[in-house]
Amino acid sequence: MEVSARLAEPLTIKTDCLIVPISEEGKLNKTTVLIDKATGGLLTRCRDNGDLSGKFGSSLMLHEPRGLSAKRLLLVGTGKSAPNVEQFIKICRAAAKASANKAIKTITTTLTQIKLDGHDSQWAARQLSQQFSEARYKFKKNSGSASGNNARQKLVLLCADRKSLQANKAGIKLGGATATGVNRARYLGDLPGNICTPAYLASQARAMGRKHPAISTKVLSEKQMLELGMGSLLSVSAGSKQPAYLIAMAYKGAAKPVKPIVLVGKGVTFDSGGISLKPGAKMDEMKYDMCGAASVFGVMESLAQIKPKLNVVGLVPSVENMPSSTATKPGDVVTSMSGKTIEVLNTDAEGRLILCDALTYAARYKPDTVIDIATLTGACVMALGHYATGLFSNDQGLADELLNAGLRAGDRAWQMPLWEEYDAQLKSNFADIPNIGGAGGGSITAACFLGRFTKDYRWAHMDIAGTAWNSGGPKGATGRPVPLLLDYLLSLAK
Ligand code: BES
Ligand code: MN
Ligand code: ZN
Repeated sequence: MEVSARLAEPLTIKTDCLIVPISEEGKLNKTTVLIDKATGGLLTRCRDNGDLSGKFGSSLMLHEPRGLSAKRLLLVGTGKSAPNVEQFIKICRAAAKASANKAIKTITTTLTQIKLDGHDSQWAARQLSQQFSEARYKFKKNSGSASGNNARQKLVLLCADRKSLQANKAGIKLGGATATGVNRARYLGDLPGNICTPAYLASQARAMGRKHPAISTKVLSEKQMLELGMGSLLSVSAGSKQPAYLIAMAYKGAAKPVKPIVLVGKGVTFDSGGISLKPGAKMDEMKYDMCGAASVFGVMESLAQIKPKLNVVGLVPSVENMPSSTATKPGDVVTSMSGKTIEVLNTDAEGRLILCDALTYAARYKPDTVIDIATLTGACVMALGHYATGLFSNDQGLADELLNAGLRAGDRAWQMPLWEEYDAQLKSNFADIPNIGGAGGGSITAACFLGRFTKDYRWAHMDIAGTAWNSGGPKGATGRPVPLLLDYLLSLAK
């Protein structure tokens, strides 16, 4: 979606749809007073008739309002007080939904002039352009992109003065780039498992390297991984005909040689559970088990667009987890790249088996920080539901930065403990470590497992099992936590 900012008056602007916020209190604001006057008291009448409440989340579409140059006037309710982050995002989404009409080619709005709780006009412009572009995403098979079905719709943000015009322009750039990353992640997530294989992800990474000069891609084959001793990762793909790949995308934006942030995304392109086969219900959703990887692809794409001065490496261990006569069996013992042996008690706890080798490999980049993103445990969905991503870290400063980035981006995470008492649940009679931790605290013991491989650097783990996709009617990938990660990375480049 094309978004721009302009200094202009809402009354005389020619547009297919003018979107204006309206609060729940009786009083009209500056813009709505002008509109009310120009239209001969239309808003006052709508209010008196009970059609216009200004209630949070409500909207009212008026057609061909006499006295305005706009073809439609869409009033969106902002409620009683200044909207906070979550509320403003909901308002943006409501406005985007109400204006999703093919006949509407240009949308113009004063929404970034609204007074917000704790955020400025630049932030509002960023969210608005992000939310509109995300709302226009529609999965189209073979489209190869995720620009959406209404990509030709144009959005104009009306500004009251020069200062806010500059701020809005900066916000639009960031919001647009965030949406590009989010929609890219959604598209990869939504692709079916027979198309989105490890080889497909590898080809996408190579294409990204060709497209963006700032990104260089390297893909390790099974043979190369075998030479590196990645017995844990390879034990997961042992039952599949699809070869595994370890994909590395390096974004170089810093002028000086600075240590990179390494993002590691779980890329299980289909998780059947392996020999510890999953039940049939909703098993199709395990095509989303590569959403951690998809978020890494999304972030790399956004970085290539924004070009911040920092270095980021995206690592994606990618496999398909299938049962077969060559598959790893419960009880098998494998040796990871770190040298630690692992007793595979459940082949469905495969995410940690591929991540541990990728996390060991990550140390080769001499990282400043390593963050892994994974649809790791059903237990995390039990604990936090679908609103917050589970966050674990061996560094409280890093945890706080990520939590705050999530707050700013409206893409929230909640911290979970990595205490020794949970780590103690990982005991094996036959290897250094088992791949499951017994009853209780499944998302924590999974994180503790990863923690055994991340002692040498600052590390955070994000369990996105509950936040990476929606089930049921609105089934589809969400693109989370691309907004959180980008906000964090951009805060480092300041
Ligand atoms: N990919 C799943 C986690 C998952 C399950 C994500 C449901 C979203 C929804 C992961 O590989 C898995 O199967 N985890 C097991 C671990 C268990 C065997 C210790 C789980 O959560 O059941
Ligand atoms: Mn699994
Ligand atoms: Zn999995």
